[in-house]
Amino acid sequence: MDVYKIKGGKPLRGKIKVSGAKNSAVALIPASILASSPVTIEGLPEISDVFTLQTLLEDIGGQVEFSGGKMVIDPREMVAMPMPNGNVKKLRASYYLMGAMLGRFKHAAIGLPGGCHLGPRPIDQHIKGFEALGAKVTNEHGAIYLRADELRGAKIYLDVVSVGATINIMLAAVLAKGRTVIENAAKEPEIIDVATLLSNMGAKIKGAGTNVIRIDGVEQLNGTKHTIIPDRIEAGTFMIMAAAAGDGITIDNVIPLHVEALTAKLREMGVEVEEGEEQIFIPKTEKLQAVDVKTLVYPGFPTDLQQPFSVLLTQAAGSSVVTDTIYSARFKQIDELRRMNADSRVEGQSVILSGPTKLEAATVRASDLRAGAALVIAGLVANGETEIQEIQHIERGYGSLIEKLQGIGADIWKETVPEEAVVKE
Ligand code: EPU
Repeated sequence: MDVYKIKGGKPLRGKIKVSGAKNSAVALIPASILASSPVTIEGLPEISDVFTLQTLLEDIGGQVEFSGGKMVIDPREMVAMPMPNGNVKKLRASYYLMGAMLGRFKHAAIGLPGGCHLGPRPIDQHIKGFEALGAKVTNEHGAIYLRADELRGAKIYLDVVSVGATINIMLAAVLAKGRTVIENAAKEPEIIDVATLLSNMGAKIKGAGTNVIRIDGVEQLNGTKHTIIPDRIEAGTFMIMAAAAGDGITIDNVIPLHVEALTAKLREMGVEVEEGEEQIFIPKTEKLQAVDVKTLVYPGFPTDLQQPFSVLLTQAAGSSVVTDTIYSARFKQIDELRRMNADSRVEGQSVILSGPTKLEAATVRASDLRAGAALVIAGLVANGETEIQEIQHIERGYGSLIEKLQGIGADIWKETVPEEAVVKE
């Protein structure tokens, strides 16, 4: 079993580069299914979710070349192969195959998606959208079957603001007949990125990034070349790391507007955040103040940074309350942080943390992607040698993390340890 080992307490300084956005990548790649000629996507992160999607596109007959962050996808020979099991279960975003394959082939069979366990993660709003466009949707033995004679534009009001449902309905609607209007749409930057790719392919989309998106269906979409946006969650993770353990860190390849909610919270805590055009510099912080945080849909504080941020709060003076309004049970990092001496407890939908605490190294488990990122930050802050197990969760979303952190002076490395060393729950 591979683990990360970290000797904490080293001052981190220098420049760290952010990769392309995972949550865009996992939608841009399936979007290529809709094209009638090759699509090139540049700046993709080299993470396991991207490699899995490459395999999935190859499984349905796509020709895919991927190197140096550039993926060229030839969708011409793709077929609507049923994918009830296997790789689709490895990642949450395999649900985008539903929208893209329904859009192109008018039918698809995709196993219910996997991904991080953050409590209930229904896809009812995706299905509501597909049905409104004219698809018959059934759940047969854990796989979703979608069939339509034709797709017709419709007005769809999302009962829950959902990134996945917004993108999935866009994917299904771009080749439908007539106009689709998505109301109460999500506004995340990743949605704009996907709409940009689709528009460059020839789709007619207006309003991406606002809560009403209008799509006029077209007959055909063509290949194009697209450069992905930087990953705002990876950037945010590095900003939190810089505030917790940095001695002057420049975060490179970031759009400061995309991380504004975090920047505001960091400033409230006493962290200096210097914004450039595509860089953010965070000098050493001497004293951190406790703050309360509530996660909200974009442009609010992102749920994906709540877990890493909770580690920073263990270093702040006073009591902080973190409330996750998106995923009420996304607190699996807290038990692990307690092993490391954090003064923290979960109360309903919130976590209460008190600090500052001297974190102590321990052997801990990454239960999900962002819990894993939180534990890496905790390991960098703690006294002694921390071991993080189940790092496959971290590698789903953070590419070359070890190398990037070594580049700013972190004492972190990957090691293979015997299976019997696994921490039991
Ligand atoms: N929801 C429903 N019904 C639906 C869809 C969503 O009730 O049909 C609820 C969810 O249970 C949740 C809320 O709506 O409470 C928001 O979910 P959303 O659909 O926006 O989440 P998602 O699209 O499945 C994406 C990211 C997540 C991120 C969330 C929220 C991808 C592949 N995943 O998930 O990213 O936490 O948006 O911003 O884009 C991560 O990167 O670590 C991660 C989990």
